[in-house]
Amino acid sequence: MTSVTPSLPLQGKNILLGISGGIAAYKAADLVRRLKERGADVRVILTPAAAEFITPLTLQALSGNPVGLSLLDPAAEAAMGHIELARWADFILVAPASADVIARIAHGMANDLLTTCILAADAPLAVAPAMNQQMYKNIATQNNLATLKSHNIYIYGPAAGDQACGDVGMGRMLEPLQLAELVVDFFKFHSKTIALPLPKPLIGMKIAITAGPTREAIDPVRYISNHSSGKMGYALATAASALGAQVTLISGPVQLATPEGVTRIDVTTAQDMLQAALSVASNHDIFIGCAAVADYRMAEVAPQKLKKSADKDQLTLQLVKNPDIIATIAALTSHRPFTVGFAAETEQLAQYAQNKLTSKNLDLICANDVSAAGQGFNSEQNAITVYGRHSEHSLVLQHKTTLAQALITLIVEQFQNEKKH
Ligand code: PMT
Repeated sequence: MTSVTPSLPLQGKNILLGISGGIAAYKAADLVRRLKERGADVRVILTPAAAEFITPLTLQALSGNPVGLSLLDPAAEAAMGHIELARWADFILVAPASADVIARIAHGMANDLLTTCILAADAPLAVAPAMNQQMYKNIATQNNLATLKSHNIYIYGPAAGDQACGDVGMGRMLEPLQLAELVVDFFKFHSKTIALPLPKPLIGMKIAITAGPTREAIDPVRYISNHSSGKMGYALATAASALGAQVTLISGPVQLATPEGVTRIDVTTAQDMLQAALSVASNHDIFIGCAAVADYRMAEVAPQKLKKSADKDQLTLQLVKNPDIIATIAALTSHRPFTVGFAAETEQLAQYAQNKLTSKNLDLICANDVSAAGQGFNSEQNAITVYGRHSEHSLVLQHKTTLAQALITLIVEQFQNEKKH
């Protein structure tokens, strides 16, 4: 008679468990057991902070393998060096993942054994955030998690509930059993769908955003415009939509694809943009004017192509002022959205931006130095200082994608603060 032993779901799988510093580190001992009882071979790396919460000896006894502690340990490197360890892993799970380790992974740092292995590994990676609820909510942490997600790193949890520090809220590590089952699911389905999605704190919120340049015709073949590529406005739309907001993007002529889930209204002139803005603003919570709108247009567009004249060296075009879109929205007397402008300046950034904040009656203004190379118009990066009537926040030079994530979170925070008062 033959007996068939059912194979365990993680049989033959090498799981590298990274433990970072935090009170939830004590649960990692149980996690090792749960992974082992599902058949996995488990190796553990402790960050120096984690070793303050749980001893290597406990984890060595439970995993049956030596525990990695230091990148600069010659004996450990001789046994199984960090590159070998990175190659060995079929799956890397960082649990608990502190705000610090999440930030370091997001920025590609390799300043301890765990982050070095992560950088050197080709294996799928999941992090199980565990931290104080305020740290979890912090813009920086949310941006770092969004970065991890954009790198196809799985985010397991966190859960909400009572915290060791006495707070209540999001930031508790998922239970070891839940984490072990998520790892099993990963190998069963090998699909991203098992990762718990990032929370979508902006569900139910409606945000309208203008982006790109406007074009003001001179004649049938020429126009007045500027160098706006739309990248900043589109990045804002992408970030807001990813956080769950319903986004309307009013776009001047640009060469960019519509971000997922976003409703796009295409316009050409400032007057078109104003009409589109007025048609949507009142049923949106927040209106962000990121477009570079032409301040002037032709008094009269020439019906035919203007001809070069042999006897005149100069040509004067008569221009008239365009309507100010953002000021018009900010002046709405009913259902006025929280209104955020941009100020693109080449000098006296703070002064000119603050003048626009008050003269256009805005709630916030994003001061954008467009004189510095590598930022502002048609570049991948940008830096912004956001002024409110009594507030100032600087967002350092970075890719427009991450800047937009930080900016949306900041704008929403300011909007919610204002609603409270
Ligand atoms: O599109 P990118 O290449 O990514 O570049 C991004 C950007 C530099 C265009 C963007 O970050 C930016 O700074 N946008 C505002 C550009 C601008 O026109 O600034 P401004 O200082 O001229 O205008 C101040 C505010 O009034 C802006 O919110 C603008 O949208 C608004 N405005 C201006 C004129 C007008 N007639 N109507 C308006 O609503």
